[in-house]
Amino acid sequence: MQKLIIDGKKILSGSIKISGSKNSALPILAASILNKQTTIKNIPYVNDILTMLNLLKFIGLKYKLSKKKNSVEVTNLDKKINTVAPYKLVKTMRAGVLVLGPLLARYGNAKVSLPGGCAIGTRPVDLHLFALKKLGAKIQIKNGYILASAPKGLKGTSFRFPSISVGATENVILAAIKAKGVTIIENCAIEPEIKDLINFIKKLGVKIKIKGRKITIIGSMKEKKITHKIICDRIELGTYLIGGALTAKKLRLKNVDPKLIKSEIFILKKMGVKMKVSKNYIEIYKSSNIKKINIKTAPYPGFPTDLQAQIMILMTQAQGISKIKENIFENRFMHVPELKRMGAKIEIRNNIANISGPCALTGAEVMATDLRASVSLVLAALIADKRTKINRIYHLDRGYQDLEKKLIKCKAQINRV
Ligand code: UD1
Repeated sequence: MQKLIIDGKKILSGSIKISGSKNSALPILAASILNKQTTIKNIPYVNDILTMLNLLKFIGLKYKLSKKKNSVEVTNLDKKINTVAPYKLVKTMRAGVLVLGPLLARYGNAKVSLPGGCAIGTRPVDLHLFALKKLGAKIQIKNGYILASAPKGLKGTSFRFPSISVGATENVILAAIKAKGVTIIENCAIEPEIKDLINFIKKLGVKIKIKGRKITIIGSMKEKKITHKIICDRIELGTYLIGGALTAKKLRLKNVDPKLIKSEIFILKKMGVKMKVSKNYIEIYKSSNIKKINIKTAPYPGFPTDLQAQIMILMTQAQGISKIKENIFENRFMHVPELKRMGAKIEIRNNIANISGPCALTGAEVMATDLRASVSLVLAALIADKRTKINRIYHLDRGYQDLEKKLIKCKAQINRV
């Protein structure tokens, strides 16, 4: 199994090109089931995307992927279609469940593996099923699979999600664009990735409006040859922003849209981080006087749970006790025991972490547990004294394109063995 060996305390400088958003590309790839020919640009070359492409191939679609151009062309010739998402693919990447809505809408049936739990929590799909049932789908759970059918097609309807889910909002949008009549959904997730999906769908001729947390879908889609450029990965951007605030003489993050991370920039500035924000790049510098802060994770536009582990590293360098309240996933402090082994002073009570700083971190052998926890260990290693070995880094490859290449180019000392 591969590991990263990082020698800390190097001063970083240079520039990093931020990749396209993985979480935006995944539902848009699922949406390509509904269309004849879809070209997606700025696609990140990461394992979750390769898993989704494998799943589309299993279903019967064809794709041409160019790593060099970061683009993929997906074609659905409607031949030998298998309306199944098997366990072996969904268990490695929960977003596989996003093919449920499109398969059901286009072919009237789907058999999709239940994803099961993962390191950060139970992650149920009840909200996905609740929403599809509202559109008229019949759903049963059998042998670990979701069996969904809508032989007479789906029908537009109005409903409100009892709680906010990114994936359930995406799944129901992808089903509703083929439904008869108007669908009005309230209490939706409104992450930038959902807005990117909506912009993609508009290219298929669907009238779709978003107002607050209400999404209205009018009219059915038309198959077209379309091209869509994915938005920048705001979580990758936020990760390197924090990395820069911890280590950089000057780090320029390119190919970005700073509007996507307004609240994160606000929080970093409040912590005393110095940066220069331009239209399509951000320059960030190591800050010597970091202030403590309290944050709580929340659906967008709140602070993202996907940046919680990373900002915790910055908090270890702040003066005083910072607090993080994790409101989205029940088990998302798995990085804390590993950080404590590196000398961090963190106490957890229920879903609140108290982080005491400033605290000198020391290199250690640690274990990555999920995607964002892994990258937080990389950030910790960059500022730690001596050498850190990070095990189980396959998690990183699921979501960060060329992580060590990007950092090495900026003078970090990292080896993959
Ligand atoms: C997406 C992101 C993930 C991010 C998360 C929250 C992708 C591929 N993944 O995951 O990186 O951390 O949003 O921003 O875009 N829930 C239910 N029932 C459901 C669905 C969700 O109770 O049917 C709960 C979850 O357990 C969790 C909360 O709702 O507590 C939010 O989950 P959700 O927004 O659905 O996350 P994902 O779409 O899985």
